[in-house]
Amino acid sequence: MTDIKRVGVVGCGLMGAGIAEVCARAGVPVTVVERDAEAARAGLLRLTRSLDRAAAHGKLGAERREAAAALITVVDQLEALHDHDLVIEAVAEDQRLKVEVFTRLDALITQDHTLLATNTSAIPVIRLAAATGRPDRVIGLHFFNPVPVLRLVELVPSLLTSPSTTARAEDFVTRTLGKEVVRTRDKAGFVVNALLVPYLLAAIRMVETGSATVEDVDRGMVLGCAHPLGPLALADLIGLDTTRAIAESLYAEFREPQYSPPPLLSRMVEAGLLGRKSGQGFHTYDSQPERERAAPASQR
Ligand SMILES: NC(=O)c1ccc[n+]([C@@H]2O[C@H](COP(=O)([O-])OP(=O)(O)OC[C@H]3O[C@@H](n4cnc5c(N)ncnc54)[C@H](O)[C@@H]3O)[C@@H](O)[C@H]2O)c1
Repeated sequence: MTDIKRVGVVGCGLMGAGIAEVCARAGVPVTVVERDAEAARAGLLRLTRSLDRAAAHGKLGAERREAAAALITVVDQLEALHDHDLVIEAVAEDQRLKVEVFTRLDALITQDHTLLATNTSAIPVIRLAAATGRPDRVIGLHFFNPVPVLRLVELVPSLLTSPSTTARAEDFVTRTLGKEVVRTRDKAGFVVNALLVPYLLAAIRMVETGSATVEDVDRGMVLGCAHPLGPLALADLIGLDTTRAIAESLYAEFREPQYSPPPLLSRMVEAGLLGRKSGQGFHTYDSQPERERAAPASQR
């Protein structure tokens, strides 16, 4: 039986919201921390809408939806996590930002048994563990997007993670959350992104060099390989900023051209074309960005 009774999540974007949702749906109280009050409001809206979607699609009965919603708290103070048993960091893929979060968590957590996890896609876990005085209790738990739907979690112990931390984290993820794990060494990109990202970047290069249109690249992989999404639609779903950040970490680690972010990807990120989350990437999306929708009109 797991000893993890309360979970904290740092960041309530695409991934943090999804991780919080699966914890709550598994009956675990979860506190999510955003960087300020407005972002916390947007995060709560994101979570509520996702629970509503699950209910509307018959994946969650009305009672379970209410029970899950009641287990979620979204706040803007990291200190709220001081007595939680597991804290999962899911802020943007930026090493400096993540190190700052780990340093602060290490200083404010009062319990020795608390585990700290990162949902990083490609930053080596040891770099974050080394910012704490408890590297034996730090581990990578790499969830996949959308978290309520995709069953995989990559379990990434660093060189200093203790076997008991790995066992407790695996137990929580598999038994409590009902996910499947693959274990991987602490190398940038782990298993899935080390394979996936060069493919996404190759698709972007095809469009950049005019070999094929966005629509044809995506149709090719959907119709020809039975992928549920084409690579450009998938990059939009991941977020083009996150895709570029993952590519940069992979390139910094391996120095192989296949991981180097194509200029088109960088220009799109610099232009604010981030994919689904901004409404425009390689494809156009109807919905307004959640952060804007959450903000009162006077603040837009
Ligand atoms: N997008 C994906 O498909 C995907 C998949 C697996 C893993 N990841 C990883 O998950 C992490 C988060 O990615 P995302 O796609 O959710 O990004 P995102 O941009 O959607 O969300 C990041 C959130 O972190 C918040 N944040 C920033 N600084 C903060 C702070 N100091 N305290 C609290 N919150 C803060 C931001 O306000 C934002 O809401 C990244 O490390 C990414 O690589 C992403």
